[in-house]
Amino acid sequence: MCCILLCHMKGPSMKNLQVSVTEKPQSYPLYMGRGLFPLLAQHLSEKPLASRYAVITDSTVDALWAPQLLAALAERGLTAQKFVMPAGETYKTRETKQTLENQMLGAGLGRDTAVLALGGGVVGDVSGFVAATYMRGVPVIQIPTTTLAMADSSVGGKTGVDTPYGKNLIGAFHQPVAVYMDMDTLQTLDEKNYRAGLAEVAKHGLIQDITIVSRIEENLDLILRREPQVLEELLALSCQVKSRVVAEDDQERGLRQILNYGHTMGHAVEMLSHFDMIHGECVAVGMVYAAKLALRLGLCDRAWADRQRNVLEMLGLPVRIPEFMAPQEVIHLMKMDKKARDGQIRFVLSLEPGRVQYGVPVADEEIISCMKER
Ligand SMILES: NC(=O)c1ccc[n+]([C@@H]2O[C@H](COP(=O)([O-])OP(=O)(O)OC[C@H]3O[C@@H](n4cnc5c(N)ncnc54)[C@H](O)[C@@H]3O)[C@@H](O)[C@H]2O)c1
Repeated sequence: MCCILLCHMKGPSMKNLQVSVTEKPQSYPLYMGRGLFPLLAQHLSEKPLASRYAVITDSTVDALWAPQLLAALAERGLTAQKFVMPAGETYKTRETKQTLENQMLGAGLGRDTAVLALGGGVVGDVSGFVAATYMRGVPVIQIPTTTLAMADSSVGGKTGVDTPYGKNLIGAFHQPVAVYMDMDTLQTLDEKNYRAGLAEVAKHGLIQDITIVSRIEENLDLILRREPQVLEELLALSCQVKSRVVAEDDQERGLRQILNYGHTMGHAVEMLSHFDMIHGECVAVGMVYAAKLALRLGLCDRAWADRQRNVLEMLGLPVRIPEFMAPQEVIHLMKMDKKARDGQIRFVLSLEPGRVQYGVPVADEEIISCMKER
């Protein structure tokens, strides 16, 4: 069905994965390695995407990585202009999108523009959405700089913004033209965000590729020390899972729901923590409770539930719902989730390594009992 090409390019430290989306005749390369900005600029000068490039980034990444990217583009004589949004999830809004669009319009950027999204998942989601609607749609290249964005958000084409009614409720599917993952950028990421993104890597292992889980267990020290080669291998495996699933279901009609493993409860925990706990941390908690539920319902054995919890704990991720969160409140928020139907909470549950079931309805009482176990 889908085609993923993993080949080494220009030395051992760079990979090129091909992500294919079957229903639409669309596929895009995913480059992984170190010091990739000159390669991106070279690609754009050899095969231009547009006559002008809008580099969208946030206020933190701006100082750290935008100068290198702009210098690489300038070196190749490419016309680029930078647009900076404030850093953080609270700025993933329609207002931010509008501000960026107005700035781009004010700068005279027309139809012949391409967006380069440099940053974490927030920048990727907002910039992708800007690109999806700017002049009725312009191309976007994703340049993720967090573990979460590399493992998850930069691949798959989901873009969007949050609203007062919930996260990611307004958006569009807009696949990138290419993705460039530069391992060097991860060196400046703070520890909390670094580890939180690894929860999504672990998720891909738990739902489909047990090799990922084994690699984490075997190479924990190197991963926590951010050894680029090990990270690259791990992220390549992780992206293969994501792209395989997306290729089969790019509009999230069915199978893609398995990527929401840990998210049903994770989103509720994230909201109740008032975003003190970040996305990946909440997904880790959600996966642990999904494993507990599967065990409770007799759908998986204890060894598998324990292994799931252990690998997340090894990565330094939270594995418990904070004491102050009342089970009823968690249930209430889970019922408001996009994926809940007819007031019935549905889970993705992992039955054994590589085998998951999605849309499993679970009674409130079972969930509450699991939460009370602590
Ligand atoms: N589109 C999708 O399929 C998808 C999937 C999963 C998550 N998401 C979204 O991704 C978002 C979370 O992404 P995130 O965790 O990357 O958060 P983020 O983009 O907010 O980045 C986290 C923090 O790290 C900073 N940062 C980014 N790169 C850095 C670097 N290299 N060095 C130093 N600091 C850096 C950012 O400025 C920010 O303060 C959420 O909004 C979530 O909904 C989208």
